[in-house]
Amino acid sequence: MIFRYSFGTMIETDAVTLELPVEAGEVRHLRTDAENLCFTAPLPGRFPVYGLGETVRGINKRGWLYVSETVDEPDHSETRHSLYAAHNFLLVDGEQPYGLFFDYAGVMTFDIGYTHLDELKITMTDWNFDLYVIEGGDKKELVHQFRQLIGKSFIPPKWSFGYAQNRWSYHSADEVRGVVKRHRDAGVPLDMVYLDIDYMDHYKDFTVNKEAFGDLKAFSEEMAAQNIRLVPIIDAGIKQEVGYSSYDEGLEKGYFCTKEDGSPFIAAVWPGKATFVDVMNPEARAWFGRQYKLLTDKGIRGFWNDMNEPSIFYTEDRMESVLEEISGMRGENMDVDRFDYFQNLVLGLSKNKDDFKCFYHQYKGEAVRHDKVKNLFGYFLTRGTSEELNKLLPDERFLLISRSSSIGLHRYSGVWMGDNRSWWSHILLNMQMLPGLNMAGFLYTGCDLGGLTCDCTEDLMLRWLEMGIFYPLMRNHSAIGTRRQEFYEFDNVPGFRFVISMHYRLLPYLYSEFMKAALRDEMMFRPLAFDYPGDEHAAAVEDQLMLGNELMIAPVYTQNAYGRYVYLPERMKLLRFREDGTMEEEILEKGHHYVDVALTDVVFFLREGKTFPLARGGQHVGDPGLDELTMVKFGSGELVYELYDDDGITLSGISEDNIRLLKA
Ligand code: GLC
Repeated sequence: MIFRYSFGTMIETDAVTLELPVEAGEVRHLRTDAENLCFTAPLPGRFPVYGLGETVRGINKRGWLYVSETVDEPDHSETRHSLYAAHNFLLVDGEQPYGLFFDYAGVMTFDIGYTHLDELKITMTDWNFDLYVIEGGDKKELVHQFRQLIGKSFIPPKWSFGYAQNRWSYHSADEVRGVVKRHRDAGVPLDMVYLDIDYMDHYKDFTVNKEAFGDLKAFSEEMAAQNIRLVPIIDAGIKQEVGYSSYDEGLEKGYFCTKEDGSPFIAAVWPGKATFVDVMNPEARAWFGRQYKLLTDKGIRGFWNDMNEPSIFYTEDRMESVLEEISGMRGENMDVDRFDYFQNLVLGLSKNKDDFKCFYHQYKGEAVRHDKVKNLFGYFLTRGTSEELNKLLPDERFLLISRSSSIGLHRYSGVWMGDNRSWWSHILLNMQMLPGLNMAGFLYTGCDLGGLTCDCTEDLMLRWLEMGIFYPLMRNHSAIGTRRQEFYEFDNVPGFRFVISMHYRLLPYLYSEFMKAALRDEMMFRPLAFDYPGDEHAAAVEDQLMLGNELMIAPVYTQNAYGRYVYLPERMKLLRFREDGTMEEEILEKGHHYVDVALTDVVFFLREGKTFPLARGGQHVGDPGLDELTMVKFGSGELVYELYDDDGITLSGISEDNIRLLKA
């Protein structure tokens, strides 16, 4: 049962696809305090709270203050309150678990036992939103109901489930050719190379640096002949440059955000001074989306939308005033307070909260200040992209991921988890984001394997890939200036070949579980407590996940560890795949176990009474080796697996009818 409550006049987010009647009377489960713009509820006992999608901290969200505000936050440490996304869905476990969804464009906070250990307090910025309370059934059922409320998840093409290599600083087509060759020569599978900002002409969207990348169409065809797709980046800021058609046209048509006086709002990002599309204007975001034609005409079918929180390096106005103030400080003898002030002047140029209060969108004929709708920016911009790509590529699936998102975008795009670091703790953090993202409808997701910033080591890369082989979006990505982390930069090439190949051996399973989750509004990755309710140990597990209906995963995420403790909520079969091509099976009883995991071992667990397919493997997603399946089983008698497969490309080809029963 879903109960809808409506407060004030909300800004339409289009997050919800079912029109429910509005309830009168008290909100269920929560105490409403309209005067203080908040709701409270008790958090009894040890029951966990789940949800909030892409956030810091654990699977159980209790014990922290989360602020739903889309920000470009490269520090994903536990001290932070916000990241790139605003996913306002919460599942409060208890004797009678319930779900909450705040359909709201503004900034809001979830104090989940932060101020008082046993109290939930949710505070809004204003009183204009819809609240959905979901009841009835277990945790899986609550999520299922919520997912039905918000509509079907985005489904990219099958090739986007392959392995991708990226680095911010592939400066030329030749460099990309070299990357592909190293993979192919070493027999390391690869399906995609992402192109970062370096492929553009002076960081201008919808342009190509012809000197370095030549004819992009010819290059993309050359790559396609090797079963490689190029996936170029598009950024939110459009360079302010007279003569650059995206700028000229957007300006002429009034498609950019403005300042209070109606002049275009100018702030700097990668290309220097830039303008921002007024995403609240459907015409403006459609215009943005139509420009992807430049890339689709070149045979490109994969895109990543970045910096769309939006990120701002500095605004024209603030830079002016800071420079002026600083010039007056020349020669000053600064004490600590003054030096601090000086430093903060400069540091405060970037992503300054006040800057998001000084530009406007047009919404239903009225100017709306950006901070009121900030959480919709990345969502609506990428929605414009997705809707227009659907027109440019009728019946064809495309790969699209966005850095910023709100619930609603899950119907149009996938997301990656932003700018993580080459830290061991981020293997775990990114894993812990998976169930929350799945609850919010984001199924096509993954993180920068190896970490975007900081220096990656060989063992970190191997361990991260051992987790990464389970992600639908499996991408090795690193930033300019960091130690290189393509597999061939390390010593153990056979080890990397083996681990990455395991993703391809698992692909028929991963694709099936992804597609079934999308078609049935379910989660692909679940906390253990969702499958083993009532098991107190399972409820406390923060570093293992259920993957699909058959497997449990438990990656190693600490350095110099050659094994780890694993909790088995039931008898399971441990499967250990070794670099020498062998597979070892061992039945383990319910309970706690120490499991050895050598540096290049791939270990996971199969539930009793279940079977799943394992492919021979291949060099890319279209490789016939992916269709040669053997069944692995745990249990006697005939076991059945629901395999999903389709043409991988057309939208009309997506259907439950593509499920075949495999018996073992
Ligand atoms: C942002 C992106 C990152 C990208 C970089 C350069 O930080 O999140 O993935 O490499 O910009 O474009």
